[in-house]
Amino acid sequence: MMRVLVAYASERGGTAEIAEWVGAELRRTGAEADVRPAGEVTTLDGYDAVVVGGALYAGRWHREARRFVRHHAGALAQRPVWLFSSGPLDHTAEEKEIAPVRGVAKFAHRVGARGHATFGGRLDPGAKGFMASKVAKQSAGDYRDRDHVAEWAAGIARELQQVTA
Ligand SMILES: Cc1cc2nc3c(=O)[nH]c(=O)nc-3n(C[C@H](O)[C@H](O)[C@H](O)COP(=O)(O)O)c2cc1C
Repeated sequence: MMRVLVAYASERGGTAEIAEWVGAELRRTGAEADVRPAGEVTTLDGYDAVVVGGALYAGRWHREARRFVRHHAGALAQRPVWLFSSGPLDHTAEEKEIAPVRGVAKFAHRVGARGHATFGGRLDPGAKGFMASKVAKQSAGDYRDRDHVAEWAAGIARELQQVTA
């Protein structure tokens, strides 16, 4: 059985839940999936594949996601890896494929990621913080689409089955 780590970096919980959806879909297809905050992972030993997800803030991946990839770059390069980002507070992520932001594209290249997806984000109307409350006034809402996430994760599961076949 493949053991997959889904590591995420989330400020307000939206990306954490997407990571859980990815994990649930991987388990449904027969893999073993651990879903954990990126900052808590100390080693990739024992994992056959890794999915790394980060929230987007001001055009960048969440700091913990960046730190995770930098720290584990060597181990990631030796495994099948997929990345995802969560951000857009509108329907664009469902309408078209959104390319990774520059920093994430560089990470993808560095670890030889097999794929990247951008999923819609979520922001509570009552979000706290100077910038967040400003953004929330314009764009609060939940633009995540569980079916889209599950479809993407099912693609990962299919590729993993080929790796082990
Ligand atoms: C201050 C602020 C800046 C943001 N900047 C971006 C951005 O540059 N690109 C983007 O796609 N989404 C941006 N977002 C939307 C977040 O990525 C979205 O709310 C996401 O779901 C947050 O994930 P989290 O709940 O895991 O923290 C921003 C949100 C806030 C509050």
